Amino acid sequence: MTDCKALIERWVRPEIRALNAYHVPPADGMVKLDAMENPYSWPPEMVADWQSRLEGAALNRYPDATAAAVKTRLRQVMGIADEHDILLGNGSDEIIQLLAMAVAAPGRALLAPEPGFVMYRMIASFVGLDYCGVPLDDQFDLDLPAMLAEIERTQPALLFLAMPNNPTGNLFSADRVEAVIKACPGLVVLDEAYTAFTDADHLSCLSHPNVLVMRTLSKVGLAGLRLGILIGSVDWLHELDKLRLPYNINVLTQVSAEFALDHFSVLTEQTQTIRREREALFSELSSIEGVSCWPSEANFILLRCEAARDVHAQMKAAGVLVKCLDGAHPALADCLRFTVGTPEENQRMLAAFRDALAG
Ligand SMILES: Cc1ncc(COP(=O)(O)O)c(C=O)c1O
Repeated sequence: MTDCKALIERWVRPEIRALNAYHVPPADGMVKLDAMENPYSWPPEMVADWQSRLEGAALNRYPDATAAAVKTRLRQVMGIADEHDILLGNGSDEIIQLLAMAVAAPGRALLAPEPGFVMYRMIASFVGLDYCGVPLDDQFDLDLPAMLAEIERTQPALLFLAMPNNPTGNLFSADRVEAVIKACPGLVVLDEAYTAFTDADHLSCLSHPNVLVMRTLSKVGLAGLRLGILIGSVDWLHELDKLRLPYNINVLTQVSAEFALDHFSVLTEQTQTIRREREALFSELSSIEGVSCWPSEANFILLRCEAARDVHAQMKAAGVLVKCLDGAHPALADCLRFTVGTPEENQRMLAAFRDALAG
């Protein structure tokens, strides 16, 4: 009898076998500042109202396949024009996958600047797209000549620009973004996962026929719900909707998202607090000798310090989980990414960081 390994070797594509599964480190009992989550919960009376809304959820029924009530509220909260359609995903990760599946064919490319969000590369492999990562310049802005050259060479079917970018935290220059949009023959997705933490907004770029804007509720306090949002022309979304599994947004997510969007001012207050905390954290971190950090328009700060891997391990041992990016990309040597937490969490993180730096 052929064993599993031989069967896997025969049937699972080599590029899938070569991948490592997305790793989520255990974080029980830790100060968890590695995944850009909103650290705040809801006031008790709001939690009670939410629970009573959940009681009315019909778990025996399939969810509304169009999630119409959620979309209506998203339009109001995000100011999405009537001429634009909305497609929802189980997190924006699922939307990236839908987009990639829609355009995948042998020899076609997915392009993204690097360092960037790792799922672009992973999903390209899942669906058999050639991945092309183009290094950012030394300011972590788009290297326009390099981008234009790679666009010309690879003729990408799909191009992602995360603004603000993960893990660098910055926005790309508007004129370079515009030049990339104009040069790209395929679809350009402006990934605004961190839109709540910046004044920049790219919905106006939807005037280009090859642009879609992607957002998520994960970073504003609903990471556990898994709700990603794609905004753009009715024609593009009509095609993409054919690939969406019919009931991808479950009943509990729909009810909870409707409720949260009805109370969006609470989430906005929290994200405003995180923005203020980010500035305080940035000035504390910048004042530490031997540490350089990059200004951020997101809910995290990228920094470089000596022996980042050891520092990361020591912080972990002290109960503080941040993200170590050393080894993830040449431009991220000795880099750590700190998610902005509550003032108390930030103080614990700073104390653990200072202790680790002192050895
Ligand atoms: C740039 C960017 N896009 C998309 C995502 C995925 O978000 P979601 O939780 O909606 O899948 C992330 C998550 O970290 C991200 O950093």
